[in-house]
Amino acid sequence: MSDIEKRIHRLERMRIERERLARIMDEDLLETVEEVFDRLTLLSLYDLVNDGVIDVMHGVVSSGKEARVYWAEDPEGNDLAVKIYLTVTAEFRHGMLKYIEGDPRFQHVRRHPRKLIYLWCRKEFRNLKLAYETGIRVPKPIAARNNILVMEFINQPNERGRPAPLLREAPPEDPEEALEVLLRYMHKLYNEAELVHADLSEYNVMNREGELIIIDWGSAVKKGHPMFTEFLLRDIRNVLRFFHKLGVKVPSVREVFEWITH
Ligand SMILES: Nc1ncnc2c1ncn2[C@@H]1O[C@H](COP(=O)(O)OP(=O)(O)O)[C@@H](O)[C@H]1O
Ligand SMILES: [Mg+2]
Repeated sequence: MSDIEKRIHRLERMRIERERLARIMDEDLLETVEEVFDRLTLLSLYDLVNDGVIDVMHGVVSSGKEARVYWAEDPEGNDLAVKIYLTVTAEFRHGMLKYIEGDPRFQHVRRHPRKLIYLWCRKEFRNLKLAYETGIRVPKPIAARNNILVMEFINQPNERGRPAPLLREAPPEDPEEALEVLLRYMHKLYNEAELVHADLSEYNVMNREGELIIIDWGSAVKKGHPMFTEFLLRDIRNVLRFFHKLGVKVPSVREVFEWITH
């Protein structure tokens, strides 16, 4: 193929892909998605449609610094949360390495920014899966493709497309019981999955009418990571601080640490 032919071919493919994406999103959404994400991300999104994972994309439910979360639907009409990582900033890249290097699962870290974000997304997927299989309440992981993670959508009861509130926004009615649940999850996670969340706080726990769901698993590290213990201590501190503020008579960080690690 000559260069001109190649260019025409590529433009033609782009046109076809855009048409396909237009079928699963309304025009406004497609426009914003195109503004925010690069072509490879759009291609990955389209792959997920092609594979029958995603059927319709609805609007954005959260736009953080590093990722955006969308409400979508699978072909059976089940709600999905689609978390799409933005291509990395230098700052995020620097921050990420701390949670990757040293984890025995990722010994050959690739430092290329795009590869690194793919790795991060895959890591979040694997962490979610591990936590899910251990019986901790997390969004059910469904698929990961490049920088896109697809999982169960945790909605507000009877309100499709609205995420349940975070613990931060909706403190539990029975804080003693909620603390117990979270500590039991941490114990299970550490002892059965050999995993520490490493970003646990009231900002990464959803409260669906009293049911606590732990989200945002990208930072979680496996036993063997040199900061494993330190991250566990920090998670314990964050959780205890929050419940202390709610007026719960909380145990000491040391006591909880000893209990979790025996
Ligand atoms: N599975 C999910 N179902 C519904 N909403 C979600 C889900 N995962 C994340 N969200 C929403 O997106 C927000 C950001 O998600 P999170 O994974 O914490 O990413 P980050 O904090 O890195 O931006 C959450 O606070 C929540 O409102
Ligand atoms: Mg978060």
